[in-house]
Amino acid sequence: MALIYVEQVEEMSVEQMQETHENEIKILNQIEKLAFGVDRKTVELSELEKKLDEYIDHVQKHFANEERLMHEYDFPSYDMHKTAHDMFLLDLESAVRQWKKFGDIKKIINFVYKTPEWIVLHVNSVDAPTADYLARKMETEGSKGEAVT
Ligand SMILES: [Fe+2]
Ligand SMILES: [Fe+2]
Repeated sequence: MALIYVEQVEEMSVEQMQETHENEIKILNQIEKLAFGVDRKTVELSELEKKLDEYIDHVQKHFANEERLMHEYDFPSYDMHKTAHDMFLLDLESAVRQWKKFGDIKKIINFVYKTPEWIVLHVNSVDAPTADYLARKMETEGSKGEAVT
């Protein structure tokens, strides 16, 4: 069992967005595995912590790259899409704060366990139409810049 499967999210018409989503899903499933290992004392806590930091960094780059693309191609619903990202980041930051400041790793782990629902909904209802728009624009205007992940 994985936390989330690639098949649950719609295939993006922009390759770099698809790649980012697949990588993020991979990281989420790795976190679940590591957390399980830490519980059974077969995995070092530091390994899980490193993966959580990788996840946080990945989410930030994921959102920033989509926002860059939307901005560069004048996506009309930029504000709506950016607000959805910002709201998610607020929740993430609060979980990270609980973890880093008060040592409560459960807070960030629980956050990670709850994210698949948000991700599937966001990717399928917000990212997918955004990617369709971007793909059309890229075809007429050409590709601008490369993705980070
Ligand atoms: Fe996305
Ligand atoms: Fe998005």
